[in-house]
Amino acid sequence: MTEWYCGVDFGTTNSSAAIFNGEQVRVLSLDSMNDNATSLPSLLYITREGESIVGRAAALAFIERNVDREILLREVDLGVDIEGYIGAEPDKSEAYNPALVDHEVTEAVRARATMEVNSPGRLFQSLKTLLRHRGFQGTDVFGQHYQIEELVSILLKRIKAGVDEAAGRPINKAVFGRPVQFSEWEDENAVAEQRLQRAARLAGFEEVTFFYEPVGACVEYAMQSNGSQRLMVVDIGGGTCDVCIMEFGGQGDVKKRLGDSKICSVAGVPVAGDAIDREITRIKLFPIFGSRCRYGPAQLRMPQYIYNQILDWQNLYKLNTEETIHWLLAAEVSSDDPPGLRALRCLIQRNYGYPIAREVEAAKKRLSFENETHIEFDREDIAIHELLERTEFAHIIEDNLEKMRGSILEAEKRAGVTPQDIDLVLTTGGTSLIPAIRNMLSDRYGEAHMHRRDTFTSVASGLSIVAQYT
Ligand SMILES: Nc1ncnc2c1ncn2[C@@H]1O[C@H](COP(=O)(O)OP(=O)(O)OP(=O)(O)O)[C@@H](O)[C@H]1O
Ligand SMILES: [Mg+2]
Repeated sequence: MTEWYCGVDFGTTNSSAAIFNGEQVRVLSLDSMNDNATSLPSLLYITREGESIVGRAAALAFIERNVDREILLREVDLGVDIEGYIGAEPDKSEAYNPALVDHEVTEAVRARATMEVNSPGRLFQSLKTLLRHRGFQGTDVFGQHYQIEELVSILLKRIKAGVDEAAGRPINKAVFGRPVQFSEWEDENAVAEQRLQRAARLAGFEEVTFFYEPVGACVEYAMQSNGSQRLMVVDIGGGTCDVCIMEFGGQGDVKKRLGDSKICSVAGVPVAGDAIDREITRIKLFPIFGSRCRYGPAQLRMPQYIYNQILDWQNLYKLNTEETIHWLLAAEVSSDDPPGLRALRCLIQRNYGYPIAREVEAAKKRLSFENETHIEFDREDIAIHELLERTEFAHIIEDNLEKMRGSILEAEKRAGVTPQDIDLVLTTGGTSLIPAIRNMLSDRYGEAHMHRRDTFTSVASGLSIVAQYT
């Protein structure tokens, strides 16, 4: 009977899995509805009836059922008194600092929550990012409580089913990837890994070992090439930028070469494609929704928490209360940008947050292959036709790029090497396709030393090879 070894890359945006029989790696097809079947979009949609839909189908279900629909909100009395802050809703702009809120102005108030009473389902994306948040232990979905591990395990069960089917029998042991840094805080890193481990167990992977994701990509390449070499992997996905420097032995079979290899350093930052999408939205789209306008006789600025809620589109519906909508209508007639505030109201009332976020991401991806593109979204009161050029985009991502560069320099420093000591720089992960990022790397290491690996599956492939020796 063939022995199969399994590698799983649970990604912020896409997940993949591979099995290895000691000679060949097989990358699994996990989502036939996706453009690329070997990538399973890490999306989960739970319906009011308790059905779970994962992958591309989850996105389609959300768009079909939740977008462009009447939302019915009800204020629910939670039945307890809490010490509440009374006064205006604090402005959660950059300047907002909870420590500066006047805590004297409190009294016992009745706890209430705004609930959507007719929602057909909830969509979860970037669950991997939630793993690190101690404060987020789980959530109620239509009256049923799901711990974060349970939500993640629903996606992992789909992967497990794909692995078992391909291997022809249950595979209960796997090597999972993990980012070098789930978070900038060490204790959050430990929490995230423990939660991922528990989620994997719930999905049926009884024995789980973790390896850094970029190590997977490094092994995948090294096992297909000859000679001893010092490799750097730069893996930039949806949630994290991971860097690894490894030295490989050049002689013998896979086992001997892996035995003779060593990880010189790893480094990483929790900054990648999602952060870039947020930055594009902030700079290019917020003004279209009136973020810079003034309203009322006192010419007040718009409260920034409304705009920050656009970035958190999964909770955008919470703004769709009678109170907020009436307030927006009043602001609109007294503002210097009525079309902007009308567009904002339409965005909230029609729940267009998700399709707009998808359009921003699509425009960003197009820009990796074109010099300019447009962010287009034209429905009802919203008319977005924003030109996005590469030069402006490079400016928008400057700060994030600098953080990624910082982790690359950190990896060099920890390994005690200079750019000349690196034989090859391997790039993987969707965000590594951005030309400004490729230029940053080729300026430092030279174009001849750059090598692109499969964007979405190289990590899982390498982890399956590593699995044979764990
Ligand atoms: N052509 C492209 N140009 C720019 N960005 C892209 C392109 N294709 C995909 N992306 C971005 O890459 C990210 C997804 O990449 P990937 O699937 O490698 O991430 P992941 O493995 O799920 O995340 P992570 O490894 O951070 O957990 C998304 O942010 C996506 O928008
Ligand atoms: Mg990844």
